[in-house]
Amino acid sequence: VANKDNLNLPELISQVVGAIGSLKDTYGDFETHESLRSDQAKISEVLKELTDRLEDNFPYFHPNYAAQMLKAPHPVAVAAYLATMMLNPNNHSIDASPATTQMERDVLKQMAAMFEYPEEFLGHLTWSGTTANLEALWIARELQPTKKIAHSADAHYTHSRMSEVLGTTNVSIPTEADGRLSMETLETELKKGDIGTIVATMGTTGLGAVDPLADIIALARKYDARVHVDTAYGGFFKLIAENHLEPETARHYAALKDADSIVVDPHKHGLQPYGSGAVFFKDLSIGKFYKHDSPYTYFISDDLHFGEIQLECSRAGASAAAIWATLKIFPLTEQGLGSVLIPTRNAAKNWHELLLTSDSLMPYQKPELDILTYLPRVDSLSKLDFVSHELLVQAGSGSRQQQIHLATYVVKPEQLKARGISMTEDAANARILRSVLMKPEHETWVPALHSRVQELARQLIR
Ligand SMILES: Cc1ncc(COP(=O)(O)O)c(C=O)c1O
Repeated sequence: VANKDNLNLPELISQVVGAIGSLKDTYGDFETHESLRSDQAKISEVLKELTDRLEDNFPYFHPNYAAQMLKAPHPVAVAAYLATMMLNPNNHSIDASPATTQMERDVLKQMAAMFEYPEEFLGHLTWSGTTANLEALWIARELQPTKKIAHSADAHYTHSRMSEVLGTTNVSIPTEADGRLSMETLETELKKGDIGTIVATMGTTGLGAVDPLADIIALARKYDARVHVDTAYGGFFKLIAENHLEPETARHYAALKDADSIVVDPHKHGLQPYGSGAVFFKDLSIGKFYKHDSPYTYFISDDLHFGEIQLECSRAGASAAAIWATLKIFPLTEQGLGSVLIPTRNAAKNWHELLLTSDSLMPYQKPELDILTYLPRVDSLSKLDFVSHELLVQAGSGSRQQQIHLATYVVKPEQLKARGISMTEDAANARILRSVLMKPEHETWVPALHSRVQELARQLIR
């Protein structure tokens, strides 16, 4: 049965709300100020209006949602976040978060170990992949103020945007037909001597492609450049790389330990609600760039406060608590969180196989992780754009139980040609279809998703 599990979330919520209530009671009673008092029935009415308004959403939690990078957090994360949020610790300083600062240290250690990073590293959680990458690029600029930052043309737009914010120059390196950064062009750029940091993306947002990190690092060392890895999406695939990804992809995952900095987002493949990124640096000396005066914080402990090594100030202790609790249930092993990722990878592989023999759909390229791109078999770019869009609209209509939600991805004629797909070039670009198959339930859902999308494609192409 869809959307059912063996967990009783209301019971877990009631457990933590009760426990936090009891904890508060131990400090002695006080009257809530009358300005804060409100009518229970009125609040209930507002919350009813809220849940009604949330009807206006796509079903991100359901395997019929096979569109963007979105899924619901795990109930353990929901309950842990709620419990902690009731106290609202701020992981900026130990004073503001003794318990959750320690939890953050614990989870960072586990994530660093996943990447095979040294035991001594500098890192912290962030609100997002964007802020985590901003910090990595900022450190890149501080270390080499006059040098440029190179990344692939398929890197997340955050890199060029943040380069703008930081006043650095960024160089966009084209990708090969598999969506990976072109090593040849990278070397040409490196030879000019002005690239300070190369950003490798492991799991590009559009295609889920994995840049050839092992080779990038070797080249970077030759030309004295640093390497930052944006693995916001793909980072947790490290857990299954060796046994469940292509050997070539696994080779690049194994090189993560040699990167100068790494970003990963627990709010993507770590079962977390939004507000959960992380950044890691290997060189401890970069801590000097974070030095600042703060006469109003940092008084309870001489230990390092996260505020002393992060750009953000306030940050939810609840995020750290939610990951900490989640990793107790899904440890960072192949059998733990890895068992959630193996079926997502299988889903993409299996759907790709079905597309190869379909009469009306074809793959755009072979998926490297769990992001699949595909297109209707048509003979012109304008038709491709029309059918893809129409397919997305028609698949998403009908009763809620019938709806399948897909995403689109814009490609250029030369990108199609590079992948051996030729058609009349009567438009500058066209949309194709894209499905981020990031829910483990997608594995069993794929045959049904495929047959519905294929049926619609047949009707539209006819
Ligand atoms: C590879 C990559 N980097 C960075 C980001 C930005 O992360 P966030 O949305 O958490 O700011 C994304 C988001 O999709 C991403 O896929």
